[in-house]
Amino acid sequence: MTDRTRKLIDRLEKEHSLSEAEYAELIINRDAEAAKLLAEKAAAAREAVFGNAVYTRGLIEISSICRNNCLYCGIRRDNTEAERYRLTEEQILACADEGYLLGFRTFVLQGGEDPYFTDEVLCSLVRKLKERHPDCAVTLSMGERSKESYQALYDAGTDRYLLRHETADAGHYARLHPPEMSFENRMRCLRELKEIGYQTGCGFMVGSPFQTPETLAKDLKFIETFRPAMCGIGPFIPHRNTPFRDEKAGTLELTLFLLSVIRLILPEVLLPATTALGTIHPQGREMGIRAGANVVMPNLSPVGVRKKYELYDNKICTGEESAQCRGCLEKRIESVGCCLAVDRGDAPRWTRQ
Ligand code: SAM
Ligand code: FES
Repeated sequence: MTDRTRKLIDRLEKEHSLSEAEYAELIINRDAEAAKLLAEKAAAAREAVFGNAVYTRGLIEISSICRNNCLYCGIRRDNTEAERYRLTEEQILACADEGYLLGFRTFVLQGGEDPYFTDEVLCSLVRKLKERHPDCAVTLSMGERSKESYQALYDAGTDRYLLRHETADAGHYARLHPPEMSFENRMRCLRELKEIGYQTGCGFMVGSPFQTPETLAKDLKFIETFRPAMCGIGPFIPHRNTPFRDEKAGTLELTLFLLSVIRLILPEVLLPATTALGTIHPQGREMGIRAGANVVMPNLSPVGVRKKYELYDNKICTGEESAQCRGCLEKRIESVGCCLAVDRGDAPRWTRQ
């Protein structure tokens, strides 16, 4: 590690900010020694805010039907090989009930942009979830919607919304998405979610096709200025039935490095060690926690549909029962000196407007 890199890391730790050019420089000149120093500082920053608690969210993948055609995504509209499913309201509520007994106090409902899930359907679902489990947080990750729709879902009781920005570079965004999708609309959604009062999550794939240190520097600057409550990053992994089938996957090394950088930019951010990270390395999620992550999202979806929510090849945790998934993650978290928290795990100092 050069003196210059050490200085940049020290400044990032103290000021939680670098210029875009400096973020790019840090990425370009990174080495194992720099990654180790960053990870130590990131783990200390996390501990100062959260102690040794790692938050857990029960993920329910409610539909694999999607009207979008993102070039990287295994459940894109044009993948005619994908097996499509949609959970019924009863199935979703049953998953949550089971999750509640297992100790989950946040449910994340994620799915493709399935037109069946109108505001009416989703609002009624959120209300029922909240009635049955008033001590739980509900997070939605259902893609791009109108401001009115986001407002209605918030009014129905939704606490958080996850919408990865995917890349903060408009040119890069255009190479990852079909022409009918726009960077401006993605950013509009994120801005409005935050304005409405959601704990909002952005994020991106590490190593997506055409990504460069410069586009990553823009991602980091965006995260620094947008100040999301949550930030989801995980490696891009190719899916065999997408236009990016022959592209290389993102690396463990760069993902861990960026997790540490993001922790130092936003010490209070809720930062998951993602399933994609666990897919590219058997201990990927543990390493993610060591690098500064503090959230894990075990799968609560019915075992029968898990393989069908196939965003990328070889996705893990598709065979286990919910209880096994939770137990397995609990052991993994404890193996790195942390413990699974059982409360809602809101963003620090968050209050509903
Ligand atoms: N439809 C919602 C949306 O667009 O936000 C939620 C579902 S979408 C599948 C969730 C995330 O999966 C995306 O934001 C993307 O970053 C990630 N993803 C999709 N394909 C992936 C791939 N091949 N490798 C890694 N992550 C992928
Ligand atoms: Fe819609 Fe991936 S293209 S969820």
